[in-house]
Order: sequence, then structure tokens, then C-alpha cells
Amino acid sequence: MCPQATTPATGPHDRILSNIVTRPHRPVDGAGPASLTVRTAVPDRSDRYNLILQSDLRKNRVIMAIKIKTDEEQALMRIAGRLTADVLDMIGAHVKPGVTTNELDRICHDYIVDTQQAIPAPLNYRGFPKSICTSINHVVCHGIPGDRKLRNGDFVNIDITVIKDGLHGDSSRMFHVGKPNVAAQRTADVAFEAMWAGIRQVRPGARFGDIGHAIQTYVEARRCSVVREYCGHGIGHGFHEDPQVLHYGRPGNGAEIQTGMAFTIEPMVNDGKRHVRLLPDEWTVVTKDHSLSAQWEHTILVTSDGYEVLTLGRADRTP
Ligand code: MF3
Ligand code: CO
Ligand code: CO
Repeated sequence: MCPQATTPATGPHDRILSNIVTRPHRPVDGAGPASLTVRTAVPDRSDRYNLILQSDLRKNRVIMAIKIKTDEEQALMRIAGRLTADVLDMIGAHVKPGVTTNELDRICHDYIVDTQQAIPAPLNYRGFPKSICTSINHVVCHGIPGDRKLRNGDFVNIDITVIKDGLHGDSSRMFHVGKPNVAAQRTADVAFEAMWAGIRQVRPGARFGDIGHAIQTYVEARRCSVVREYCGHGIGHGFHEDPQVLHYGRPGNGAEIQTGMAFTIEPMVNDGKRHVRLLPDEWTVVTKDHSLSAQWEHTILVTSDGYEVLTLGRADRTP
């Protein structure tokens, strides 16, 4: 469904960290030997999509090339991140009963293109037809804006990705429509705190498995579940770069986190079982059991002493 991108050109100034990571056959916690990371030269395969490719899992091997962003790239990513947050801050006032997700899409599109003079990354990305993703109630992610009017008690994830001067910012938040539904409020809160539990793990020397473990532990202790088919991702010149940032895992597993890496953390949390189904439009992901699902996302830069959240907004929720 999501073929790998052809190898993009890589600038000569890019420092590439290449790893071959050996995983257990099934990427299931505790189901196999600990991951092994070997640094080796492999072709850059940035801009991979964030679906966990089944072929990779079967081959028992995942090849990664995690880019370390230059100071110049980091400066541009701060700008792209701030623009992304600005769009989410702006759109909040428009999320009201009666508005259609198409209208939200148009408002965001025009703001990004006309005011920010930036590019909405989802538009035409692998055939995606709109400029933002809007995922309502039991929709897990990648909902396509349409004629559906928002109703009192719905909650909706709005996912914004902006490209400015070639660099991406990617962030999403949950918005309650009218009076918040109690169950939706709880699911959104669990996903929000889970994202922050993951973010707080980020520092040089930690491992990606530490992020996944913190998220999974937080969510499952609250009788919710973590979606496994979609994950966070490296980000920069590419929308979806290596590595895949899993929202479940074991401490100490996975590649080492290093200063200058940039990636998203974006856990999808279901009120019911973790299993998902793809609708015939080949984009919309829903919970199999129709339980509510929530997601929050930030773009994170690894600094020498921890992390910087590049997509924090003025109207953003903070932990
Ligand atoms: N913004 C999503 C993410 O967090 C990806 C959306 S891809 C699209 O990675 F094509 F649906 F826009
Ligand atoms: Co993302
Ligand atoms: Co996103």
C-alpha cells in the first residue's frame, strides 16, 4: 500500500548515521532477543512513509539512516515548527458545531499558502487529496476532510504539516466540538499525557525503545491501547524520514538517540482494542471495534542536554 520512496538526493554536508537494526521476527515486546545496532554504510532511504512496512518485519531486518541536522537545518526547522503551531493555534476558533472538515481544510490551506507563504505537505502527498488530516471520533488518523459537519460532543484530531524553505514541521492536537464528551475527554487526555511521557525520555544516549516503553506503559495502565501499525518518524527535508518511532517497546532497545536528530512523537490511543481497519478510500484508518481514538503529535529536536519541542504553540496545551 505504501511503497518505499525512491532514494532522494542527499546534500554533501549531511552527516548520516547508518544503522542496521536486527529485530525479533515479531516486533512484539518480550517476544525475542534484544535489538542489536550496528553502524554500517547503507544507502540513504529518507522520506519513507510512517506505516510499518510488513515486508520489513518479515525480513527480520530494518535498515535505517538517521540524519543529524546541521545548525542551519535546525534553524529552519524551528521556523517550520513555529508555523505549524501557528496553524493549529489559528484553527481552534473555527472548530464549532456545524462546520465541515472541508471548511477547516480550506481555512488552513489559505492561511498556510497566503499568510505563511509555505506549503501544506499533505496535499498530493502520495495521492492524499487535501491539505490537512481531520480524524473524528473513532477515526485513528489520516481522515480526509469532507462534507461531514462537526456535531456537539465530537472530538477531532487536526494534523498539520507545513513545509517552509524545504524543511517540515508536523504536529496535531485534539479539539472538542462544543461541550466535551466525557469519554472523548478522557481518551484525549490519556493520549496527550502519553505523548509527553514519550517526549520526556528524549536525550542523547537514550534509545528509541525508551520512548515507546514510556508511552505504552502510561496508556496500558489506564486500560487504553496503543495503535501499532502507525508510528512517529524522522523529519527534516523529508516528511517521513528514518527512524520509525514506535509508540510501544522495551527500555534500552532500538537505535541510540543523538544530538541533532529530529523526529515526531505521535501516539494513537484507542479507548478499546488496539486493532485498526483501513477504509476503502485507502487513507482513513478507523478502530476495528469502533472505540474512540485520540492522537497528539509534536516535532522534537534532540539537544545536547535533552529536547526542544519545535511545534509548541501559544494556544497549545502543556502538561
Ligand atoms: N501528518 C501525518 C503524520 O503525522 C501524515 C499525514 S500523510 C497524509 O505523519 F498524506 F495523510 F497527509
Ligand atoms: Co507525523
Ligand atoms: Co502529522
